[in-house]
Amino acid sequence: MCGIVGYIGSKSALDILLDGLTNLEYRGYDSAGIAVNIDGMVELYKAEGKLQNLKDITEANRTHITKSTIGIGHIRWATHGAPTTINAHPHSCNCGKIAVVHNGIIENYKELRENLEKQGCVFRSQTDTETVAHLVAHKYAQTNDLTEAVRLATKEIEGAYALCVIHQDVKDTIVATRRNAPLLVGIGEGEYYLASDVPAIIQHTKKAMYIDDNQIVTLTPNSMKYIDTDKNVLEPKIEHLPWEPVALSKMGYKHFMLKEIHEQPDVVRNVLSGKLKAIDEKIKLDEVTLNANDFKNLTRIQIVACGTSLHAAMIGKYIIEDFCGIPVDVEPASEFIYRRTITDKNTLVIGVSQSGETADTITAVRQAKALGSHILIVTNRPDSTMAREANSLVPVNAGIEVSVAATKSYMAQVISFYLLAIYMAEVKESMELSELNKLKHELIVLPQKIEEVLAHKESIKACAKRFANAKDFIFIARGINFPTALEGALKLKEISYINATGYTAGELKHGPIAMLDESMPVLSILITGKVYEKILSNSEEAKARNARMIALTNSTDEKINDLFEAIIRVPEIDELVSPALAIVPLQLLAYYIAEFLGKDVDQPRNLAKSVTVE
Ligand code: M6R
Repeated sequence: MCGIVGYIGSKSALDILLDGLTNLEYRGYDSAGIAVNIDGMVELYKAEGKLQNLKDITEANRTHITKSTIGIGHIRWATHGAPTTINAHPHSCNCGKIAVVHNGIIENYKELRENLEKQGCVFRSQTDTETVAHLVAHKYAQTNDLTEAVRLATKEIEGAYALCVIHQDVKDTIVATRRNAPLLVGIGEGEYYLASDVPAIIQHTKKAMYIDDNQIVTLTPNSMKYIDTDKNVLEPKIEHLPWEPVALSKMGYKHFMLKEIHEQPDVVRNVLSGKLKAIDEKIKLDEVTLNANDFKNLTRIQIVACGTSLHAAMIGKYIIEDFCGIPVDVEPASEFIYRRTITDKNTLVIGVSQSGETADTITAVRQAKALGSHILIVTNRPDSTMAREANSLVPVNAGIEVSVAATKSYMAQVISFYLLAIYMAEVKESMELSELNKLKHELIVLPQKIEEVLAHKESIKACAKRFANAKDFIFIARGINFPTALEGALKLKEISYINATGYTAGELKHGPIAMLDESMPVLSILITGKVYEKILSNSEEAKARNARMIALTNSTDEKINDLFEAIIRVPEIDELVSPALAIVPLQLLAYYIAEFLGKDVDQPRNLAKSVTVE
């Protein structure tokens, strides 16, 4: 949530900042701004709305702004104060010499602001961040040292923050610090970069250092001073970033979402690679540190996650219980953290997160860790804050996901849960070998089946066109595909703003059926297996109330032709693995409906890719 970028070196900072912000735009798009130092003066350029508005302003002053070889930039997802130009970052102090960009929330900003106002500070914005600018200015007036000023300020601010600060009188320096919000330093030759996420800097360098909580870096073009907030000098841990810049290109697709949907066959192959080598070989999960004895002592598994990751977790529950006979609870992390935490050393706690930076999920796993639970993290970002809390890790290897609506990361999480559940079943010997082998085979052939669905996307597009004007949408399923119904509905509502809900088909008659009439599309996920006949009769019930029926099915049963107005077909698949296939047409359906409605698919309103505030 919010994106930060910084540069100091010998090149012009402007394009580095704007390109960095472009690659972070998925983190927020309410407003944007940069601060540069030109001829010894800090100058701010800010604009409300999409990044393009800032680009237009800076373009008009390009010759002037390109003189600066130092700068900080920010893209905002508003928390405190409306998304206006005044509230856009960077923020400054009374004298205008300081500029600050911030990601996170300063929880005690009201008290700090009151105090600072009493001391003569004049606030221009409604943001919590402006407090930091004034506070650092006060500390600088006392110390004449920017690092010390930032350090003293961090002693007074509470909450979550990643901060970058520049001062006009120390024009070759950026000071950065963080607590509970991500920030990394990219290292070049005679230059440094700062970013809240890898995409902002990956085109410039793969050499980086992650700043940890309560640490401060002071960067000049040729030096990096690295201390903690108690002034201890720290040894930098330089890492090689395993990302490719090409991941940030749309590769000819109109939107990142469409590109990422199409990447899913390869994502499945990547996730399986090295872990599921052959049907008769056991699953290898190198970074899962639980042994057979630990598994024997497990009484329960608790999974915490949010949004799309929560839906992947629900599939995880279904298959772990089915394959291993261990009870599994799944709860939204945002609920888990505000009630008594009942986990212990015999509970395995699994945190699932694409970004690894979701504040609710981080808090949940920290609470469970404090009670002695083993923490297993399933994430697309092994370099994230959440991954650093892990005792065991399952990296899902989906590659950078840019679209705010998660698609390929969901696929990677679901496949990772299959691997984990089979791995646990093998350790616990809780499943027949022949059944395990059948599942492994289904996973190995899954990429071709997804490719088949993608090859028929025109028929899904046609279906989307037919239903794009619906005001509401209902998705129904039972059993293992109930989370698929929820995820299909979430995809549709987040990018098209159509009110979509997923229900277990059996629950329809207990209330939601009252909403059905000739204007309501009901999409039934009708996969052959245990509950096929049941969903079929639930669909008949909906049809009898005049709902517009759509089937998503692998069935070749002719009797469904009369029941459904539209049929989306997927290849034959085992019900137990079907969620990984059934989601693909639903992602495409949501995508094409949003496209027909002219919505901003990659950057839906009010959302941000990673939600780093509770
Ligand atoms: O990074 P995470 O997986 O922890 O994010 C959780 C949710 O915020 C995320 O899945 C959100 O629901 C997406 N917009 C879904 O498309």
